[in-house]
Order: sequence, then structure tokens, then C-alpha cells
Amino acid sequence: MTGFSADWLALREPFDREARASAAHSLARNALATRLRGGDPTLAVLDLACGTGANLRELAPRLGGSQCWTLVDHDPALLGALPGVLAAWTQANGFVLEAGATRMHIEGPGWNAEVRPVCIDLALELGAVPFAGTRLVTASALLDLVSASWLDALFAHARMAGAAMLFALNVDGRIAWNPPVAGDAEVDRLFASHQRRDKGFGPALGGTAVSFAVSRLRALKYEVAQAASDWRIDAGENASGTAMLTAMVEGMGAAAIEQDPTARASVSEWMQRRIDVLDHTSLCIGHQEILAT
Ligand SMILES: C[S@@+](CC[C@H](N)C(=O)[O-])C[C@H]1O[C@@H](n2cnc3c(N)ncnc32)[C@H](O)[C@@H]1O
Repeated sequence: MTGFSADWLALREPFDREARASAAHSLARNALATRLRGGDPTLAVLDLACGTGANLRELAPRLGGSQCWTLVDHDPALLGALPGVLAAWTQANGFVLEAGATRMHIEGPGWNAEVRPVCIDLALELGAVPFAGTRLVTASALLDLVSASWLDALFAHARMAGAAMLFALNVDGRIAWNPPVAGDAEVDRLFASHQRRDKGFGPALGGTAVSFAVSRLRALKYEVAQAASDWRIDAGENASGTAMLTAMVEGMGAAAIEQDPTARASVSEWMQRRIDVLDHTSLCIGHQEILAT
């Protein structure tokens, strides 16, 4: 759960999509795209830490019109999986995908997108990212991984380019298990501390990323809108709910033990208690979407 395999990204994507649908209403992306385009027919979008392209799949149909996406990640395995994941998605939705050696082109109803994947280590080479000409800088499930100084540097680049910013699926620290079991509070606390560990970008913002980003963006005179986009995971709903809950219990347990090895016994007991009630468990993980224009 704390790694970023294509399998983990695929498991979380339906929950991400459902969570983002609730924010989409309040953040009116189509109107945003029209505003950002100005006189330019093509909207240039930069997606940072793109993984296998979930953010593009979420946003491109909602933004509408002609778009040009640069997708950046440092993981060649995820970038390598991108064409296959996009091919499956376009086929399932009746869109048309043309794949070239370095670019892809997608035609959907009322929108089309040129897609260019780029391999860059964002922690080490932020300056190598092609910000110039970008109208929208976006990222999903990234902000909790980065440090305050890295985020300030990103905001400076985006502001210099005159770009708006849209950050999706930013954990805000809320975790609500139902039913509760003994040990929830201890594991939540250890997990939150683990989220603040360095993920390559310096000390990670973890659950403080949202409040930090919003205050910094406002200080830079951006107009900031926020909307909740919580994960709601229900074991009773379908097999993927159960698989996702299992991954959450295992992932949070492993992170808690890594954070405090002396808590191994109590965390293992918590994991067992959680697995025992899994078939009637629901979990809400708080996320916020941030739009800065
Ligand atoms: C939680 S995943 C989110 C992926 C995708 N945005 C999504 O919503 O499915 C975090 C992503 O950050 C990427 N990442 C982590 N460290 C990175 C770095 N130093 N440079 C570029 N990408 C990085 C990972 O490879 C992974 O794709």
C-alpha cells in the first residue's frame, strides 16, 4: 500500500474515481478548462507523478475540447504500463487510441488528448520538468509524499508559467473505521507518523499537506477552492471492497510496525481483529481536492 505498483494503483482507482466524483461537482472542471484556455484551442496540462495515468483518465473527459498532456513519473515500470492501461480504458469506453513510439493520441466524445509520457525524478530534477506553456499543473495522490520546501519550489515553477493547479486525492488525516476495534487509535497515530517520513522529497507533509498547500497558495494570491473527496470502502459492496480493505489493514499494519518495531505484537493483534470483522467493515479515509487559479 505504501509502494506504487501498477496493481496497487489499479486496486485503488475505482475508489479514487468515486471519491473524485463528489469533488467534481463543486470544482466545475469544464468551466475551468474554458477559462484556462483563453484564446488557445489546446489546453496544455502537466500531470506530476502520473503513475499509470489515473489523473488523465479522470480529468480529460471532464475538461473537454483539445488537450495536450505531459505525464511525468520517475518509475519506468509504471510509465511502461501506461500504454496498456490507456488502451484498456479507451477500449472499455469506446474512445479511440493511436499509439506512437513516444506519444499517444486519444479521441473521445467532445474531447481529444495528445499524451506524452516523460521519465523525470521530480525530487531531484524538478527544474527539468517542462512547465513553460502549461495552463494546468495537476497531480493526484502526491502532496502527502512531498516536503514543504519541495512544494514551495513546485508552486514557484507553476506560478512562473502562469498555470492553474489542481491537486486531487490529498489525504487530510481523517480515518474512520466502522465498527471500531481496540488498537485503531494507536495504529492511526503510528500510520500518520509514518506518512511524515521522507519519501525522497525531504520530510513528508503527510496529513498536513492540505493545510500547508492551501495557506501557501493563498499567500501567493491564488484563488483557492477545496472539496472533500473521501475514500469510502465497504466490504459488503463487492470483491474489490474486500480486497481494498485487506490491503489497507495490511498496509497500515506494516507501516505502523515499521514506524515503531516495539509495537509489533499489539499491531499484529489489531490486524487480526480487523480481519475478523472485515466482512462487515466500512472505512472512510479523508481526502481533499485543491484547485488554485
Ligand atoms: C500514490 S501514486 C499516484 C499515482 C497516480 N497519480 C494516481 O493517482 O494513480 C504516487 C506516484 O508518485 C510517483 N513518484 C514517487 N516519487 C517520485 C519521484 N521522485 N519522481 C517522480 N514520481 C515519483 C510514483 O512513481 C507514483 O506513480
